Amino acid sequence: MAIRFDSKSKTFTMHTSKSTYQIKIDDQNVLLHTYFGSRTDESDFSYRIVPDDHGFCSQPAENAWDRTYSLDFYPQEYSVHGNGDFRIKALRAGLSDGVPALDLRYDSHRITDGKYGLPGLPAFFAGKDDSVQTLEIILKDLYEEVYVSLLYGVFEEKNIITRAAIIENRGENPLKIRRAMSMELDFMDGEKELISFPGKHTGERQFDRRTLHHGITEISSTRGTSSHQQNPVVIICDKGTTESYGACCAISLLYSGSFQIQAEMDQFDSVRIVCGINDDEFRWILAKGESFATPETVISYTDNGFSDLTNGLQDAMWSNLIRSVWKNRKRPTLVNNWEATYFNFTGEKLLQIASQAAEIGLDMLVLDDGWFGKRDDDNSGLGDWGVNEKKLGCTLKELVDQVNRLGLKFGIWIEPEMISEDSDLYREHPEWAMVIPGRDPIRGRNQLILDLSRAEVIEYMKQAIDRLLSIAHIEYIKWDMNRSVDNVFSAANPHLSQGAVRHKYVLGLYDVMEHVVTNYPEILIEGCSGGGGRYDAGMLYYVPQIWCSDNTDAIERLRIHYGTSFGYPMSTVSAHVSVCPNHQNGRTTPFKTRGICAMQGSFGYELDLGKMTEEEMEEAREQIALYNKHYELFQRGDYYRLTSPMDNHDFTAWSYVLPDGSKASLSVVYTDLHANPKPLRVKWKGLVKDGVYDLDGKEYTGTALMQGGIVLPKPQCNYDSYMAVIERIK
Ligand code: GLA
Repeated sequence: MAIRFDSKSKTFTMHTSKSTYQIKIDDQNVLLHTYFGSRTDESDFSYRIVPDDHGFCSQPAENAWDRTYSLDFYPQEYSVHGNGDFRIKALRAGLSDGVPALDLRYDSHRITDGKYGLPGLPAFFAGKDDSVQTLEIILKDLYEEVYVSLLYGVFEEKNIITRAAIIENRGENPLKIRRAMSMELDFMDGEKELISFPGKHTGERQFDRRTLHHGITEISSTRGTSSHQQNPVVIICDKGTTESYGACCAISLLYSGSFQIQAEMDQFDSVRIVCGINDDEFRWILAKGESFATPETVISYTDNGFSDLTNGLQDAMWSNLIRSVWKNRKRPTLVNNWEATYFNFTGEKLLQIASQAAEIGLDMLVLDDGWFGKRDDDNSGLGDWGVNEKKLGCTLKELVDQVNRLGLKFGIWIEPEMISEDSDLYREHPEWAMVIPGRDPIRGRNQLILDLSRAEVIEYMKQAIDRLLSIAHIEYIKWDMNRSVDNVFSAANPHLSQGAVRHKYVLGLYDVMEHVVTNYPEILIEGCSGGGGRYDAGMLYYVPQIWCSDNTDAIERLRIHYGTSFGYPMSTVSAHVSVCPNHQNGRTTPFKTRGICAMQGSFGYELDLGKMTEEEMEEAREQIALYNKHYELFQRGDYYRLTSPMDNHDFTAWSYVLPDGSKASLSVVYTDLHANPKPLRVKWKGLVKDGVYDLDGKEYTGTALMQGGIVLPKPQCNYDSYMAVIERIK
């Protein structure tokens, strides 16, 4: 049993394979958080909380005279605003606008087999794992008919706990919610470091590590998407934790809109973390009988450092979050025409690229932006999803049929959430764009955003996608979203409810995506938002892969892939070989290095194949064959970051190892050159210690490769690279 309730000590203890989590109902019926860390027993850990008469720490109702009891320093499970706790809170709501106050106390609980669901929101599922359990603790306000259910999904084997909260108003008066976090975690002991993944367009998810100090640290997005600038994943760890040693905990939010993760070190050096929808422009009014569900968060803990933490999380996402049938199938290697042609293509040009793709052994052509409406640049056409047959010189069906005849599948780009002012859709339905009436709108890439809080817009979008998918044999969609959400106003919502629009937008998006996933389960969908601007665990419930960055430079991708690997399975990373000098930063790298780097994820090309030299064509053939041969290793292998591109300036190395240790790869990209160089060595990880492996015809034990490592060949040119695949022979 993963979840136990001890009625004597009134503790809930949840166990996963590597961690224990404990909650206690105290004498005041307040829910306290007593333990989260290394797997332990079911002792009542509330002895760790030390009551004391600390000055300026007030007492909650019913406990007014015991000055040693204060929610200002007690570790809680789900803190509320207005109850004598002056730290960051999980919930801020009340019956009147100015004085939001609740006082939540334990009401009841349920422990059930299986995993709770969150209708309309992405959530982990139990699948075939019948050991998964759900704990639901129901809290009630002392004064009002307001209930809060705290939900916990315990995946013992996968070492994850999921959390969400549902707020319900059973009273007569509307409840105004100002903030509703998905979870709170109170660590009694401080001295923590926080790792987050900030970035920018074409430079997403860079690794950033800091020591927490007193005060609030915030990782958040107000852009209506999870964003390029921050990412809804953090790792909180003990000081000094490394890849293979130390206590660390990952927290990931399954949400694709504005999010907020805050960590506060308080006056007694305890650390509180909360995570959920960003409260910045958030307001939600609950009428009698209504409820509000927060998005889900997933947490995972290990004592064994980052490799163990992230391999566990990646594996859980693979098996219990990603739904696409494509996670278990070999995904097509592809050529995408974006960097090959941008908007400037014809059907003939596309077919030329397709026939070259077939020649080198690729599986699919993806037609990017520019095939619809009036769309020869990025200033017009969004919303008009009719095919521009004049530009293609044929119907879409004719084009796709010809591509199929070449032996290739066909994929297509769409950006359904957007509308250009220069489009028929806008001329017909200007009220469908989210703009503030009477004000010139804020534009991004010269486009506006469709109001997905409106049922008729959701319906239009579903129909537009259905229509497109019915006219040709489309097997893949690249689903893009190319601006931040700002200046939000929905003409369909009353003025007072505009604070709900951003979240309703995300719910509308999930509704449309659910429609596509349910009705076209065979279609492979690639998520995208100007590259990795919406790379979050919420998206992975709908799409098995995401275009990782608009930056295709192999060297900058090293850091992007490195950061991404802390939060997401590498099989979700889309990566392509592009032309040099690179279109984003002008750098020239060897073709071989571009291939090795792109093989870290779902592999493809994004260049004019017709302009490749014979030598490059041959190299591409070899790359594709190599990728296909070791596909299972790259998709399902454990991923080891062997060096950090942030710290090691000579080379970056990573490896994949099949879970049974029977096969492993090593990839190295040299990032600097030196005269009179020192020897470079790198140590493998995750191999079978007493197994024997064949490397270039020589035998090595797993221990030797992991403890002694190997000596890398000397780089022969700028940004040279090296790759080896070893198999266990004994
Ligand atoms: C975004 C995507 C690119 C490409 C363009 C097309 O920037 O990230 O890959 O699809 O849009 O406009």
